[in-house]
This record gives sequence, structure tokens and C-alpha cells, in this order.
Amino acid sequence: MDIYEIEGGFKLNGNVVISGSKNAALPIMAATILTDDKCIIENVPDLKDIKTMIELLEIIGKKVQFNNNTLIIEQTENINTRAPYEIVKTMRASIAVLGPLLAKYNKAEVSLPGGCAIGPRPVDLHIKAMKELGAIINIEKGYINAKAQKLIGTTLTLFGPAGPTVLGTENAMMAATLADGETIIEPAAMEPEVTDLGNFLIKMGAKIEGLGTSTIKVKGVKKLKGVKHSVIPDRIEAGTFITMVGACGGEVRLDNVYVAHINNIIDKAKEAGLEIETEENRVYVRKKSSLEGIEISTLPYPGFPTDMQPQFMAMLATAKGLSIITENIFEDRFIHVGELQRMGANIRVEKGTTAIIKGVNKLKGASVMASDLRAGAGLVIAGLSAEGITRVQRIYHIDRGYEKFENKITSLGGRIIRKKED
Ligand code: EPZ
Repeated sequence: MDIYEIEGGFKLNGNVVISGSKNAALPIMAATILTDDKCIIENVPDLKDIKTMIELLEIIGKKVQFNNNTLIIEQTENINTRAPYEIVKTMRASIAVLGPLLAKYNKAEVSLPGGCAIGPRPVDLHIKAMKELGAIINIEKGYINAKAQKLIGTTLTLFGPAGPTVLGTENAMMAATLADGETIIEPAAMEPEVTDLGNFLIKMGAKIEGLGTSTIKVKGVKKLKGVKHSVIPDRIEAGTFITMVGACGGEVRLDNVYVAHINNIIDKAKEAGLEIETEENRVYVRKKSSLEGIEISTLPYPGFPTDMQPQFMAMLATAKGLSIITENIFEDRFIHVGELQRMGANIRVEKGTTAIIKGVNKLKGASVMASDLRAGAGLVIAGLSAEGITRVQRIYHIDRGYEKFENKITSLGGRIIRKKED
């Protein structure tokens, strides 16, 4: 297995181009199931999760070509409506094929995703949405077996314990595009990735209103057509590089960013003391003096993203004074705390959901282990800012979501290499 070996203590300077958003590309890929026509999707990051979704689409009966960040997806004769456990267990976003399969073929068998390193991640709201749209659902041998003569538009309330669900809203929106009549999703997730999927569906001929608000209305149509679309930039990758500069120092320009999507991240980084200026698609980040502790509470968009929590924690581990981070979305998203402590961070977790971070002068390099994608990114940030050598194990988690991560960091002057584990 590969590991990252990082020599910490170097400032970052230069510019980095942000890739397309993984979490927008994945449901958009699933949405191509809704048409028999060819779809072309551009600005798709070359990542493990994208390859997993390609594999799943191929099983379902699509022919997929992926070159230079562009996907060409075409329909074959071999239609299959089963998403097998072997794929779904490796990537929870596979659940996004449930709505499109049901809408297009009136049936779907999708494996239940199973456990997850960031806490329980049920799919009850996805199932509820499909049932309320008229599907008959049986859970058998670990599979969601869904059937419907016809999906019928209705009002869907998809409110989970942490607020609206991103993939649940996406699944419901995709299913509703070919349903009879109007579907209202309320509260709908307002994440930019949901809006990007909605815009893709609208290009395909879907009738959708209210994207980016908490009420999405979908009027069913008979058929959707093939289209060309370019995926939005990855706001979490942009945020990750912002916190990297915050931890290491230096001056970096980020290109290919939608500033409007990262205002919540920029505001918190500025509050901690980073200097940030923005142009339409660019962000300039500069660290002039040491950072100050801040308070963060993760929330659904437009609140502060849970997917940026570990990276901010790594950055704040060396900020002056106290920081308090409350995780409201996922129950168990503090596994990185133990790893940061091994590097000398002073962090205490209270009631499982609040981390109190007392900034230390310097982190010290150590061997640490990534438990999920964003925790892994946080550990890389910690390693880049630490004294000495850090070895990050299980970087296959990081490969799921950061395109050319070590190349981008190296181009900024960070010292990071990929190695085989001894
Ligand atoms: C999406 O996951 C993202 N994944 C996650 O990104 C992200 O962390 C998450 O949204 C929150 O922003 C993709 O877009 C592919 P949710 P999703 O359903 O849609 C509860 C990353 O690192 N819930 O919005 O699965 C759930 O347990 C990842 O890139 C239910 O209770 O997240 C959680 O507490 C990880 N029942 C909350 O809702 C359900 O049926 C929000 O989860 C579904 C969700």
C-alpha cells in the first residue's frame, strides 16, 4: 500500500488549479442513466471514486470513455438494473443510481452501503423518497429492491437528524424528472453540487425550479436527452489548499474556483487571520502573521462544511489560543483527533461532538493513519506544517477525492512523496 512521506516546515508559494468537483460529478454521472443518448461531461477529476462510478455505469449497461478529464457516456443494449455490493461497499455515492434506475426502468436493486468510517450513514431518507414517489421497496439480503409501475409526483420531506440530505435530495430530484406530475422536495439540500446536478438535468430537458433554495420543484417530463456539461470546481479542494497555506505559511493563488461557493470557508479562514482576496474565479491566500483560534460549527450549506472540518482542525492545531469545533453532521468524524494528538496537538473532545483545540507552537512529525478522505487531507496539512518527517498511511482514502494531490503540493514547494509502505 502507498503512503505519503512528508518533510514538514516549508512555506507554500505559487499557484494551483482546482479540479472539478467529485461530489458534483458522481451524481451527474448517475443521471446519465436517465437517457439513452450520449452525454459528454467535462472537468471531471481523475480519481478513484470516479473510476468506481465508471465501473458501476458499465455494469448497468453504459459504455464509458474517460480521457483528459472528459467523460463520454453512451447506452449499450446490455441493460442491468442491479448495483452490486462489491461496488457499493467501496463507495456510498453509488446509492445515486437508485433514483435514475427506478425512473428509467421502473426497477432497481441497489446494495445497502454498509458501515462508514465517519459514523452511521443511513439511507432511510432515500428509501422514503422512492416509496413516497410510488415505489414498492423490499430490503432483502442486503439489497434495496425497488419496483414501480410509474413514479408519481408528490411532496417529499427529507429531513434527517442533521438537516436535509445531499445525495437523498439528488436521488429524489433524479427520480422525479420522469415521474407523472409535480414533486416538491422540502427541505432540499442547497449544496452547490445539488445545483450543478439540477442544471445538468435541466439541460437534459427536465423541468426544475428552486435550485439552491430549500424548496425544489420538479415537473415530470416524458423523456430526457443527451447533453454536454462541465462540472463545477471542487469547493472542498479549494478550501483544503486555503487551510494548507494557513498551516504552512506562504502565498498561493488558487485558479478555477467559484468564490461564491466557498464564502463560508473564506470567512472562517479570514477570522483565523489569513489574508484572502478574491476575483471572480481566483483566490489569493497569504499568511502574514500567526493565526488565532476560532469557533466552527459544521452545518448544511450555506453553513460551514463538515468536509472541511479536519483540515481546519489541522490548521488550528498551531493557532494561538483556543479553537472550538463542533461537528453536527456526522456522529463520528473526529477519528483524526487521535492522529493529530500523536503529532503533539493539544485537542480534547467533549460529548463526542465538540473538539477543543489549544494551539501549540509546532506539531512534530510522526507516523499517522488516514481514516477517511478529509481526515487524510487534514493529516497531510498537519505533516506539511510539522517539524520533521510525517508518514501518512492508508492514503487510498485521499486518492478517492484529491486529483494529483502530491503533484499540486510539490509545485507549491511542499515536500511530499508517495512511497510503497516498507
Ligand atoms: C454528501 O454525502 C457528500 N458525498 C459527503 O462528502 C458530505 O460529507 C455530505 O454530503 C455532507 O455534506 C457526496 O456528495 C458524494 P447527507 P451524503 O445525506 O449525501 C443523515 C466527502 O468527504 N442521513 O447529506 O451521504 C446522515 O447520516 C464526503 O467528500 C440520514 O439520516 O450526506 C448525515 O447525518 C463524505 N438518512 C446527514 O443526514 C439518510 O437517508 C447528512 O448526510 C441520509 C442521510
